[in-house]
Amino acid sequence: MPLDIIIGAQWGDEGKGRITDRLAERAAVTARYSGGDNAGHTVTVGSEIFKLHLLPSGLIHPGVVGVLGNGMVINPQRFIEEMDKLAARGVNVSSERVKISYAAHLITPAHIALDKASEAALGRGKIGTTGRGIGPAYTDKVARRGLRAESLADARVAADSVKAHIARANASLQGVYGQPPLDAEAVAAEFAAYAERIAPHIADTSMYLHQVLKAGMTVLAEGAQGGLLDIDHGTYPYVTSSSPVSGGAFTGLGVGPQFAGRIIGVTKAFQTRVGEGPFPTETFGAEAECLRGTGQNPWDEFGTTTGRPRRCGWLDLVLLRYSARINGLTELAITKLDVLSGLGRVRLCVGYRKEGKEFNELPLGPSHLEGFEAIYEDAPGWDEDVRGARALSDLPEAARHYLSRIEALAGLKISMVSVGPEREQMVIV
Ligand code: IMP
Repeated sequence: MPLDIIIGAQWGDEGKGRITDRLAERAAVTARYSGGDNAGHTVTVGSEIFKLHLLPSGLIHPGVVGVLGNGMVINPQRFIEEMDKLAARGVNVSSERVKISYAAHLITPAHIALDKASEAALGRGKIGTTGRGIGPAYTDKVARRGLRAESLADARVAADSVKAHIARANASLQGVYGQPPLDAEAVAAEFAAYAERIAPHIADTSMYLHQVLKAGMTVLAEGAQGGLLDIDHGTYPYVTSSSPVSGGAFTGLGVGPQFAGRIIGVTKAFQTRVGEGPFPTETFGAEAECLRGTGQNPWDEFGTTTGRPRRCGWLDLVLLRYSARINGLTELAITKLDVLSGLGRVRLCVGYRKEGKEFNELPLGPSHLEGFEAIYEDAPGWDEDVRGARALSDLPEAARHYLSRIEALAGLKISMVSVGPEREQMVIV
């Protein structure tokens, strides 16, 4: 009766949707436990591409229930849009299949306006957020004045609480940021309409998940973002406002750690980052362009949510070991190995150098990465197209060597390697 947890081991965008989609074949439920529509999960099934921001990726499998846990912040407008898009493509999104925790928080237009105003006010010191209102919604949650999904169970309650919320937010928008106020009546009317659509999906998802786990079925907790964007353990302040680490799955779903099974750290065969913040293995020029792609393919390194080009670099084993530790990873899933084909050489960052000293671990965590220079271990690359590989033995010797160095340096076994965007393009070890 395990709760298997899928974690982004880097700064998000590791391809968790792919891994969730694959593991969902054997799961009863996939559950999101943190973040909101700042996430973007892409799943390719044959010629069909599904881009999900709020709904769990496992929903693409007909037999799987999707849960949006209490740790999430949900923009109701975006939720309804995403549900409608899936329904139009024949995916069943009934209230039996899509359940929202009554304790999840709601994102309003005021949160989005505050997110944008705060970033503009920070100027060059901005975080580089997705502008989806994530930070302000979590701020309201922690300040104990947030709007919870349960308020949508009754359209009148929803309208009243939204009006009070907009009045408070307007004070900040106008007073702190000099921005125009929002029309509280208009937002309240909007939310009263959302209430009708969303109310049937609101449930005690903690109780539901307990029942499923106790019945011996598998729940997949689907991480969003990544450990290095965690509010406590990431590259603070260049982080998101939630807990994407594995511990967040327990608080964000209302499930105890006794159910934990596999904790799968998903990492690209290289490394990317969107938004601001330190990135010791960042690379530029032709090498970066090779890793990023042109933007013509949906899997190229441009944000699913914002379209921003991602910063690209080499896999950083110091950060991967750190991620393994804070998440208690039991194994690694490597994605996008195929992207490295054709690069003359491949590099792994095995340590850092700063002021003449060498480091295998960060002395004070990743929020103090500035000034650390990567020490690389280089190896010959490979030219073969690896997309047809289905077993390790199908891979070129150089690619197998690269994977075995990752295992040795991270101290973890690799259980899956994705070698292309399609569902089947996967090596199961
Ligand atoms: P926020 O989550 O919109 O507040 O953004 C905070 C930071 O997290 C920014 O650097 C974003 O680019 C980054 N971020 C948020 N969600 C994702 C994601 O799903 N993938 C990658 N980066 C993300």
